[in-house]
Amino acid sequence: MVAAGPPESGWPAAREQGPSAGRKSRRNDPVRRCGTASWSKPLSVLLALPGRIGRPSLDKAVSRGEGDNKVENDPTEALRRRAAQVMPGGVSSNIRLVEGPEAILVRRAEGARVWDEAGREYLDYVAGYGAMLFGYAPPALNATLASTLAEGTQFSSTHRREIELAEMLVAAMPSLERVRFHSTGTEAVQTAFRLARGFTGRPTIVKFRQHYHGWLIPGDAALPAGEATTDDFAENGPPIVTLPWNDGEAAQRFLRRNADWIAGVITEPLMANLGGHDPAKGYLQALRALTEALGIVFVLDEVITGFRLGLGGAQGYYGIRPDLTTFGKALGGGMPIGAVGGRADIMDLIADGRVNHSGTFNGNSLSMAAGRWTLETLRRAGACFYESLFERSRALMDGLARAAEAAGIAVALRGPGPVFWLVFEADEAARAALPAGAPPPAEPPLYRRFRLGMQAEGIRLTPGGRWYVMDAHSNADIALTLDRAAAVLRSLSS
Ligand SMILES: Cc1ncc(COP(=O)(O)O)c(C=O)c1O
Repeated sequence: MVAAGPPESGWPAAREQGPSAGRKSRRNDPVRRCGTASWSKPLSVLLALPGRIGRPSLDKAVSRGEGDNKVENDPTEALRRRAAQVMPGGVSSNIRLVEGPEAILVRRAEGARVWDEAGREYLDYVAGYGAMLFGYAPPALNATLASTLAEGTQFSSTHRREIELAEMLVAAMPSLERVRFHSTGTEAVQTAFRLARGFTGRPTIVKFRQHYHGWLIPGDAALPAGEATTDDFAENGPPIVTLPWNDGEAAQRFLRRNADWIAGVITEPLMANLGGHDPAKGYLQALRALTEALGIVFVLDEVITGFRLGLGGAQGYYGIRPDLTTFGKALGGGMPIGAVGGRADIMDLIADGRVNHSGTFNGNSLSMAAGRWTLETLRRAGACFYESLFERSRALMDGLARAAEAAGIAVALRGPGPVFWLVFEADEAARAALPAGAPPPAEPPLYRRFRLGMQAEGIRLTPGGRWYVMDAHSNADIALTLDRAAAVLRSLSS
């Protein structure tokens, strides 16, 4: 399961460790921790002794939320009002609206924890929506960023850190022969679409229902939709066509009939953005083979999975070789980043401007340094990093399943682990029963009650059901989470 690391050559030595490197605790340093047998009390011990979990000792680990933990002179409401006066909805990204009026206003974050404006502490599974693979503010990354900052941030030239990160990416995955950088995953996806269209001379991109590839996709609110309702579509078909996912026959039928129009097929490797479904056995491989046979560019969107499932990405994990891959999130360790990479004959269309690719902040030195640090840290930590991350993630998933069963609530836990979904079956049934065309609620109602219950217990979750596990989550954090989840689930069932 664990992707093999890249060869030693081509990987720059870690030289941006900074003065605090020697003072790092083992817990904050995956490289040092992986050299030891264990870095916190074994999970099996913590989980086998429920009487000893949490209260009182672990209760100190996080605050209880707003329910019984009101803070005097809490500035949160006043800040929310100010935000709403000057920012539509009071947020900078619409996904944050889903959190509703209870949204936490984070003031600072460290390790696996965030603190809100009132000083309350939360154990966090939002993880910067997947960007924080290690945890918040790793000291070694901060030191790297500080030394980079001192040398300037925006050169508008090719520079050493950018070249080194590109070399590391090319070494990490066999499908990558060339890469270009962006500031977001959305941009990387748009570049992949341009490349596919430029390479094939065809207009249409096929995507899959309930997959998310950034916020500039036709079919999203306020952009023209393109849904394939029959096996054929009109001449000059829509720029984006949406097919059901995990349905090999539907893909075969549609792609074979319309191959002359189709430039590219883009897919998430698993349904990381909704529901967490894994690909059916052989499905990704079949899509790969089919697109190859039809001369269609196969794009794997690894913005979430890249470096979360392995140094070789989801493509290493599932064993496929796409034509193009898009990255973002975890690659940047919390700095804004996007990257697109793949076959040289496709990527080189941007070398001479046959396909345009630009961006003032592309390859800025802070993001490049963060990317270098991320890949270098993963390489040095080796297989142990992912073994340990998967083990803790699986323990969390299994524990949540057991807690739900004990509370008599039917749930599904889906996904590989470092990103997974907790889905309430009652919510899925309600969604399935909606009349055709009726929009589902922004957040499934039972999950919303669960999430707000967890928030009141000092555990911060993403809205909707997706969980991200970070390296900073210790075994004790997971035991604490399960203890609190059991209580919240019991309260939901009573
Ligand atoms: C699979 C996938 N692709 C692309 C994107 C867009 O990335 P960004 O938000 O950095 O623009 C996202 C964001 O969540 C994503 O999950």
